[in-house]
Formats: sequence, structure tokens, C-alpha cells
Amino acid sequence: MPLIAIIPGDGIGPEVVLHARRALEHYRDERKLLLELWELDLGADRFLRDGTTFPRDVADRIANEASAVLLGALGDPRVPGLEYARDILFGLRFGLDLYANMRPVKALADRLVPLKDRAAKDIDFVVFRENTEGIYVNIGGQFKRGTPDEIAINEDVNTRKGVERLIRAGFDYAKKHGKKTVHMADKSNAMKHAHELWHRCFFEVAKEYPGIDAKHVYVDALCLYLVQDPRPFEVIVTNNLFGDIVTDLGAGLQGGLGMAASANVHYADSKRVALFEPVHGSAPPLVGKDLANPIASFLTVGMMLAHLGWPEEEARIESICARSIETGNCTPDVGGKLGTKAVGEWILNELRKE
Ligand code: IPM
Ligand code: MG
Repeated sequence: MPLIAIIPGDGIGPEVVLHARRALEHYRDERKLLLELWELDLGADRFLRDGTTFPRDVADRIANEASAVLLGALGDPRVPGLEYARDILFGLRFGLDLYANMRPVKALADRLVPLKDRAAKDIDFVVFRENTEGIYVNIGGQFKRGTPDEIAINEDVNTRKGVERLIRAGFDYAKKHGKKTVHMADKSNAMKHAHELWHRCFFEVAKEYPGIDAKHVYVDALCLYLVQDPRPFEVIVTNNLFGDIVTDLGAGLQGGLGMAASANVHYADSKRVALFEPVHGSAPPLVGKDLANPIASFLTVGMMLAHLGWPEEEARIESICARSIETGNCTPDVGGKLGTKAVGEWILNELRKE
């Protein structure tokens, strides 16, 4: 039976995950999907209470027994250094070798699209962000800290294996979903060594997918094009840092961070445990105000159910979320007047009806 670890985390994380959890309970209890839920007390509160970040036994049980992890959000102003958050988030992404961070950018209603003359149908692409290397490996250091001569270095690690498997995931996805184009975004005009590897690797892998158009785009130009006309984009592959940045821009195109879901997967092996998280953070200013948009979490549950073998449930959840926007049963960030709890209830009710 699939075991799902749930880490509500910090800030608005528990407020939105509460509803995501109830959606999973609905699937378990009423639709009889075989799911076992395992809630974990990890995050800033736990760290401040007893110093725990991401314990070895929890990491081992997730790696050996879980099918999926649902993570709300991490980040708390009481722990400015965020060491515990990095331990948990990167412990999962790196520790489970979840090399593909899939972030769909899809607008669910015309009203959410901030671009003049563009409609929801014009915004529908997926970013495949490399998730286990790049500048996120945290190799580097500081020298002469606090002096006028100080030096700070963060190394950008790009391996042939890491780059190739992410690019291949993007093409495999495109092939499976009938997409015609894969774009690769890099900065090979400035970052000669690392991004020449990305460039070369991209066109080599592309040869194995003759039906798919492989296009290179510099990441700065990509940001320009996405705002001018996002229609040509279907699948974008890119490195860890650029993927982080481009997907926030993408969230802006789909109605904000409250609408953006993500999956972190070991793409080549769909049986391996995967991590699912809404793209938004812990949003300290919204905490306890019943203002957080739970839709990203519901959509994230949809991605999880698709990963576990129930893609029709992802479609169902997505269409209910779209209706919640269309009918105004949504939070103020997406033009509604309801609070987190009321939106959560509304979506759960629709889920129960169908
Ligand atoms: C994200 C976040 C994280 C990242 C932060 C919290 C480290 O911005 O998931 O997009 O950069 O990956
Ligand atoms: Mg980010």
C-alpha cells in the first residue's frame, strides 16, 4: 500500500496541507484508494524545540518505504539561517536523487493571466529543472570574512550524467505527452564551461527524438519571450538555479504562487519515492490570517495521484480548482473573497460530489 509522508512544515504550510491531507483522506476512505498517511513533525517548531532537522531514521524510512512525500513549506523568521529547512528540503531532493523538478505552468482561467491579449489556453508548459546539482550543491566557502578583502565562492557543479538525465527526462516527457518542442535554457554565451556542456548534451540527446523540435534559448531571452508571448513553449529544460527563477516567473503567468504545483522525481524510475510541494514558500505575513491559497496544494496532490497511477484524479482535481476560480470560490490573491478554510471546504465538497 503506498505510504505517503506528509510534512506540513512552517508558516502557511500547515494551513494549506490540512486541506491537501483531507483530500488524500477522501481518496483513502471514500474512493478506497490504498493509501497510508504518515504525518511528520518537522520544521522550525521542532528545530526550535529539540534541535531536530531531518533525522536519519526518518530519511531511511522515507527512502525504503514511502511512495511519496507531501511537503507544505519551510521557512521561519525565527530561524534566519534556515539550516534546518535546507537539511529537510535538500535532504529529500538530493538524498532521494530526485533529479527532475517538474513544474507545470498552466493557467486555469483567463482572468488569472496578467498578459494583455493572452488567454489561459496560451499558457501551458512544463519546466524541467535539474534538481540535484548546479549551484545548489553548496560547495564553496568564505575567506577573510568580515574584512574589506573578503571572498565568497559558490561552485556550480554540472556533470555529464546529471545534465544528460534531466534533458532526457524533458524529451521523454515531450514524447509521452505529444509535445512538439523542447527548449533548453542556458547562459552558454557567458558561462562557457558548464553551459557548453548543457548545449552539447542537449543537441546530442535531441538526435534520439527525431519528431521533437529541439531549440536553444538563452535564459535571459527566455524571460523576455515568456512575458511577450508564452505560446511557443511546451517543455523547458534548464539547470537548478535558472529553473528556480524561471518558475517564479511562470507562477506569475498562471495567477501567482498560490496556483503553482510541483513534483520532484527520479524521472527514469516512476516507482521510486517522489516529493511533491506547492512552489510557494511559508509566506510569514499570511500566517494565521486564513488568507493562503490552498489551490497549489490541491494541484500538488493531483500530481502525486498521477504519479501513483491515478492520472484521472489529477484531471478531476484540476478541473475543480479551475471551477473554484471561475465561480469566485477562491482566495483574494486570485480575485475571490473566501478564506483558506472556505476554499478548502468548497473544493473538498466538489471532490465528494463527482
Ligand atoms: C523553490 C524554493 C527553494 C529553491 C528554496 C526555498 C531553497 O525557492 O523550491 O523554488 O530554491 O529550490
Ligand atoms: Mg523558488
